[in-house]
Amino acid sequence: MSKVYLVGAGPGDPELLTVKAWRLLQRADVVLYDRLVSPGVLEVVNPRAHRIYLGKHEGQQQQIQEQIYAAFLRFSGGGGTRRTIVRLKGGDPMVFGRGGEEWMFLSAHGIEAEVVPGVSSSVAVPALAGIPLTFRGVSQSFTVVTGHCQKGAPEWTRYAAADTLVVLMGVKHRAEIAQALIDAGRCLDMPAAFIERGSTPEERVVVTTLGDIARGEVEVESPAVFVIGEVVNLRAMFARKQRERDCLVPVEITVAASAGMEAA
Ligand SMILES: C[S@@+](CC[C@H](N)C(=O)[O-])C[C@H]1O[C@@H](n2cnc3c(N)ncnc32)[C@H](O)[C@@H]1O
Repeated sequence: MSKVYLVGAGPGDPELLTVKAWRLLQRADVVLYDRLVSPGVLEVVNPRAHRIYLGKHEGQQQQIQEQIYAAFLRFSGGGGTRRTIVRLKGGDPMVFGRGGEEWMFLSAHGIEAEVVPGVSSSVAVPALAGIPLTFRGVSQSFTVVTGHCQKGAPEWTRYAAADTLVVLMGVKHRAEIAQALIDAGRCLDMPAAFIERGSTPEERVVVTTLGDIARGEVEVESPAVFVIGEVVNLRAMFARKQRERDCLVPVEITVAASAGMEAA
């Protein structure tokens, strides 16, 4: 019996792969990978593996999904050959990646499957850009939501009260999202940030406000993580040597008494 591993590739930097993902990529026979899997991660793949790009572009999602299912059936069958098949997805496979649906398909067809979690862009990308999603006295919780729903828009009034709101796939509808959050009670000057291509050499961070986004004044490209909340201001307290992932250095952390901060 062949086995399919639903593997998280992390946000882009190959050093953010888990040890388990790295080992599997090195011994994989087949790798079916998504649009968000970075070139650096693909370099880790066994050079003898059969690599198949199955990235979903707008308007073709269902068609590509059918091709993914066909590939599962094709490679897991195969006359007694036992194959290691890696279904490689950006970030974590169970966070907005249809990983759950693919797992269900494999299970319904009696194909052995295992999930290998990955580092999700939703938490790692803001952190790498110097934005902690929680911080004592500033934000006690965070909510992650998609900005792109299959059926209609998300109910933004439900999410407007979150301490920190993280929106994935929110670039295209950013102005509508910002306006909906303002209509639901968020301030015009609420800090917000977009982190494009986080953890890669092309990373770009845009720090702005909900008001500017709602007015259509903020240029951003996908993929980006959209973060809304006071924690965005904490970015000013962190410095990072250019292009080095591993040296987030707290410069000086002075939290005003008005922020309700307990003594450390
Ligand atoms: C289909 S969702 C997949 C999320 C993924 N499973 C995860 O856990 O990170 C795709 C969205 O994730 C975000 N994303 C993924 N990787 C990113 C990166 N390296 N930099 C910025 N945003 C990223 C973007 O919002 C993008 O539109």
